[in-house]
Amino acid sequence: MSGNIESVLNETRKFPPPEAFSKKASISSWAQYQALHAESIKNPEKFWGEVAEDLHWFKKWDRVRNWDNAPFAKWFEGGKTNISYNCLDRHLDSWRKNKAAIIWEGEPEGDRKVLTYLELHRQVCKFANVLKAQGIGSGDSVALYMPMIPELAIAMLACARIGAVHSIIFGGFSAPALVDRIHDASTKLVITADGGFRRGSVLKLKETVDEALKSCPTVKSAVVVKRSGNAVTMAEGRDFWWDDLMAKADAVCPAAELDSEHPLYILYTSGSTGKPKGILHTTGGYMVGTYLTTKHIFDIKEEDTYWCTADIGWVTGHSYVVYGPLANGATTVMYEGAPNAPANDRFWEIIERYKVNIFYTAPTAIRSFMKWGDEHPRKHDLSSLRLLGSVGEPINPEAWMWYHEVIGGKRCPIVDTWWQTETGAIMISPLPGVTPTKPGSATFPFLGVDVAIVNEKGEELGVNQGGFLVIKQPWPSMLRTLYGADDRYKDVYWSRFARQGWYLAGDGAVRDADGYIWILGRIDDVLNVSGHRLSTMEVESALVAHEAVVEAAVVGFKHDVKGEGVAAFVTLGRGHEKSPKVSDALKAHVRNMIGPLAMPDQIHFTDSLPKTRSGKIMRRFLRDVANGVETKGDMSTLEDLNVLAKLRADEE
Ligand code: WTA
Repeated sequence: MSGNIESVLNETRKFPPPEAFSKKASISSWAQYQALHAESIKNPEKFWGEVAEDLHWFKKWDRVRNWDNAPFAKWFEGGKTNISYNCLDRHLDSWRKNKAAIIWEGEPEGDRKVLTYLELHRQVCKFANVLKAQGIGSGDSVALYMPMIPELAIAMLACARIGAVHSIIFGGFSAPALVDRIHDASTKLVITADGGFRRGSVLKLKETVDEALKSCPTVKSAVVVKRSGNAVTMAEGRDFWWDDLMAKADAVCPAAELDSEHPLYILYTSGSTGKPKGILHTTGGYMVGTYLTTKHIFDIKEEDTYWCTADIGWVTGHSYVVYGPLANGATTVMYEGAPNAPANDRFWEIIERYKVNIFYTAPTAIRSFMKWGDEHPRKHDLSSLRLLGSVGEPINPEAWMWYHEVIGGKRCPIVDTWWQTETGAIMISPLPGVTPTKPGSATFPFLGVDVAIVNEKGEELGVNQGGFLVIKQPWPSMLRTLYGADDRYKDVYWSRFARQGWYLAGDGAVRDADGYIWILGRIDDVLNVSGHRLSTMEVESALVAHEAVVEAAVVGFKHDVKGEGVAAFVTLGRGHEKSPKVSDALKAHVRNMIGPLAMPDQIHFTDSLPKTRSGKIMRRFLRDVANGVETKGDMSTLEDLNVLAKLRADEE
């Protein structure tokens, strides 16, 4: 990105929070927010120290924030705590002991389970003992490749309990993607299931694990939950059934007293180069960050039923299905399957059944709901809802308005929450009892979050001038590094504004005349497909790994439902003819290499790609072709103008 990003904002609608909502909200006035925010920026140690007092520490910290070795942060240094203890044990001395912690709904009709805090605690302790019996200790890496079932949350909390580091791999990833992640983290144990239900069919997870483990010598054993009942092969001495191990496990397992900076998890996400980045989060700061954001942004009340629809394979599921809500002693709903199984009203049925009060989902889902029609939500009583949330990509104003009117019945505030795997917790969002919202704007920074929008030189930009979104001070739930790649961590996030010491988020943003922040999307080669990050490089590497392909370039195009679709421009090798068959084969190949999410929606065959004289692929031209729009702007650096003309002609 060279100059400023052009922004085209004309959204003028404004929705103040309903008075009744504000009155009861945990932060209830603009003045209160401003005072807290100013204090949190001016005196972060005091602010975060006070927040952390709400939680349990075996030993109090010596120092709240240590930024001496920037960009390597330490929070609550010297403190000893355990996030599993704070999500479970902390609640057992109160009436919450018998409160529903997790309300689980499987995809097949009638498959339901409620785990109280006491029962969840018991299961977690037992599984923690199972882990120990498998030789897993503090600091060991455990991979979780599981459907959205309670055992997934149990396994996470059990890892955290003994200081093992979980690495959750989304169930939609294929075997090669699994292998990469297992290698990178030197994983010792894999937890999986025979299968999981998705839109009526069974996702054969164990089969994929078997395939992956052929090339994963560090993995000594696998624990398999029986979920879907399909036949699986169990390798003697390596694979164990979850139930068999749990039956023998002791229900007592005290939480390990871990350093605040003890690693909690690694979560892989796409960067602008092919290799996924292992985002490392640690214990104390992440716990405090997810705790506070859940408390204020979702305004969680003791009696609320809260539902975040994200898969736990993504960061949203980590922070806002499991850790944030449980740290607050809340009731969190977990749903296994697809929103359209068995019918298009499944989500609304779940909201009605459990009288969900707070509902958090993604714009891509909202756009699907809009497409399916209002009759589906209209069939159900959604009057329990009092707050809605959105995450994953900028929400377009039409989708916002639909969400507000059809789902929220015009009475629920919407929190449009901007954050990243790297930030661990929500960074920019309305406070539901305070902030008048504007459709499509994430509005203002959360407490302790010091943001700016700057140009290449680091100068703050004015009203309606788009630029880089940066974060000027460290925050507790920030990533600590990229696992095993400190230099890459510095390079990706901290090198562009090294002199100022600012974090580069990788998103463009702009502030309007009222100071509202609007996120403009990624500034690097990262796509946002259905709210999930995908690097163009990853898809390109998969394509060129196919025998028919010599060169490939991947760009995003505007997609009605997914936000961005994947368009691939492919040059075939000698002896390979372009045909729908090859096109299908390439799609299937990407699906097998990475997963269904990455499968190209468009494949364009081309004899050559538009390049600069120095050989750099000119993606903006390809983007125009993929989007079906005319190419404007400077073409002088293009090496061969015919390439573009030919690409266009091929489209006709
Ligand atoms: C995008 C998901 C606009 C953004 C929590 C960010 C958003 C990337 C929003 C992180 C939002 C997320 N408005 N854009 N409310 N939320 N994004 O790591 O580009 O999967 O950098 O974390 O999603 O995606 P990630």
